[in-house]
Amino acid sequence: MSEVVIHKGLENIVITETKLSYIDGEKGILYYAGYPIEDLAKYSSFEEVCFLLWHNRLPSRKELDELKRSIRENAEIPWEVVDLMRKAPKKAHPMDIMRTAVSALGPYDPELEDNSREANIRKSIRLQAKVGTITAYIYRIKEGLAVIPPSKKLDYAANFLYMMFGKEPDELSSKIMDVALILHAEHELPASTTAALTTISTLSDIYSAVVSGIAALKGPLHGGANEKALEMLKEIKSPERAEEYIKKALAEKKRIMGFGHRVYKAYDPRARIFKEYFKKLCEQRNDWTMYRTAEKVEEVMISLLGHKGIFPNIDFYSGAVYDMLGIPSYLFTPMFAMARTSGWTAHIIEYLQDNRLIRPRAHYTGQLDLKYIPIEQR
Ligand code: CMC
Repeated sequence: MSEVVIHKGLENIVITETKLSYIDGEKGILYYAGYPIEDLAKYSSFEEVCFLLWHNRLPSRKELDELKRSIRENAEIPWEVVDLMRKAPKKAHPMDIMRTAVSALGPYDPELEDNSREANIRKSIRLQAKVGTITAYIYRIKEGLAVIPPSKKLDYAANFLYMMFGKEPDELSSKIMDVALILHAEHELPASTTAALTTISTLSDIYSAVVSGIAALKGPLHGGANEKALEMLKEIKSPERAEEYIKKALAEKKRIMGFGHRVYKAYDPRARIFKEYFKKLCEQRNDWTMYRTAEKVEEVMISLLGHKGIFPNIDFYSGAVYDMLGIPSYLFTPMFAMARTSGWTAHIIEYLQDNRLIRPRAHYTGQLDLKYIPIEQR
């Protein structure tokens, strides 16, 4: 028998070509469709990034306006879906509510079974429009508040904050939300995108594939680390306590959440951008405690583990930023899913252009040729 090489976790297995994102983990570099993430965060908008991912080019002014209009027009969700969300058990995990709501939306889409590129782009717009509303409604329903219908004039990020809090956000909050969406939009083939591609490779439909992505993102090894990083910063409380806390945690062999990455062995460029906006927010609010604590934790971690390629990842500063915007930590992973819907749908559309059923093999290690014994004789 030829020797079997097992690639646990598909680590380093390349399953497809992509033009959507490029990561250089050694240098800490990330591009979306050829554009450095730093430029997109600075100059672009979430809607423009959606267009870039779906069409592999930047839009004209007219195309961008049209996409924004289309997203606004499709942001409402059927009342039956809102009702379903309301009927979820009180203790339901927000990601379970989101997964169920997106799944329920599928049959309402008139083009559900059409897997042509054009139809899938139209469905991606509708889906992207609606996940923002679903995410805000998860919060409103969980808090026992009336849902707020989407605004007919605000852009995606501002509209999300408006549906959350019932008032138009200030400029800095909108910009930070927009940047957060851009930074989470796309990241090559993590578990969730791989799950979405596995589903679409059977020629299922784009809603089912996005549901698979949401399901995979729910797990703590994927989404969810920013919630834990925030908890840690709140527990440390002040910069003076940071060094002792980190050294003790490392001595107890604990993982420090928001540090390290399977691909980045340098500073995650998304963390650097989040840190910048965290600083701006602290300046605006004149509240520096969490920032100074985080900076100290970063300094200690890099001095202790930087030589192993462990640096802050996107999750280290994002939780603190969301917390300052008044967003509760249970909503962090649904917000990740809301942004990543753009990347999932873009990968689905791209993969279908040259589809191949994803069907790996497993190496059988059980017994063979066992004699079947009738149940009465076992
Ligand atoms: N704290 C302390 N030690 C760490 C950490 C950490 N956060 N991350 C890695 N290490 C150590 C680990 O103990 C190991 O040490 P040794 O070689 O002495 O055994 C070494 O670094 C390599 O670790 P690994 O587990 O082989 O590395 P990995 O590539 O499998 O880990 C990771 C990637 C993200 C699972 C890990 O860094 C981790 O658990 N980080 C904390 C959770 C976290 O922040 N996750 C969010 C990731 S970013 C989200 C996204 O991009 O979608």
